[in-house]
Amino acid sequence: MTAVRTIDPDEISGRDRYQLLTSLVVPRPIGWISTWGVNEEPNLAPFSYFNALSSNPMLVGVSIGHRPSGPKDTLVNIRSRRAFCVNVVTEPFLEAMNSTSANVASDVDEFTLAGLEAVPSKRVSAPFVHGCPAVMECELEQEVSLGDAPNTLMIGRVVGLRLDPELERVAGTSAIDPKVLRPVGRLWGASYATLGTVISISRPD
Ligand SMILES: Cc1cc2nc3c(=O)[nH]c(=O)nc-3n(C[C@H](O)[C@H](O)[C@H](O)COP(=O)(O)O)c2cc1C
Repeated sequence: MTAVRTIDPDEISGRDRYQLLTSLVVPRPIGWISTWGVNEEPNLAPFSYFNALSSNPMLVGVSIGHRPSGPKDTLVNIRSRRAFCVNVVTEPFLEAMNSTSANVASDVDEFTLAGLEAVPSKRVSAPFVHGCPAVMECELEQEVSLGDAPNTLMIGRVVGLRLDPELERVAGTSAIDPKVLRPVGRLWGASYATLGTVISISRPD
């Protein structure tokens, strides 16, 4: 039997580190983040360095990478408006979500590019995706520098939840039924996971 060996991240390339980390922390939720740009144009892009951080208050975090040319539009826009919307990526929106990851100039509206409509949120200074069944409207809570990493962690406080009334709750709870939501998770690269078998097990006493 081949012995398991420990890989030292300092001894492998940045590409290998990226491929290993993103294929081991799986599946990752996708924060599909919409913001207003500097010239009022809507901006939309997916981020899978994304997760829930706390429920009281409701906090979510997204780690935004920097391009060699400078910060990504989403980061610039969140800094400027101190707000963003997280559109939950569901199966019908998978292709559209992918289209909005195109590396385009900051004045290009990714909503139009993907055939989507931007709706202004009344609660925060950000648009959201028309027809998206679940949207979290967030105010910027904190910006966290990640040291040497060319990423910035933006923590948002959810101040509004827009939920399609068709989204059924799991009986006796406020939780949205995943079988109705049909969320998509990111695996590594261009691979995604849709909902497989849902297993429910009780917690031990
Ligand atoms: C599914 C998916 C997940 C992504 N996750 C991230 C991420 O976590 N962090 C990041 O910086 N870029 C991520 N990207 C790339 C951005 O979406 C891409 O750079 C986008 O053009 C940024 O747009 P912006 O300049 O309008 O902010 C991801 C792309 C895809 C398709």
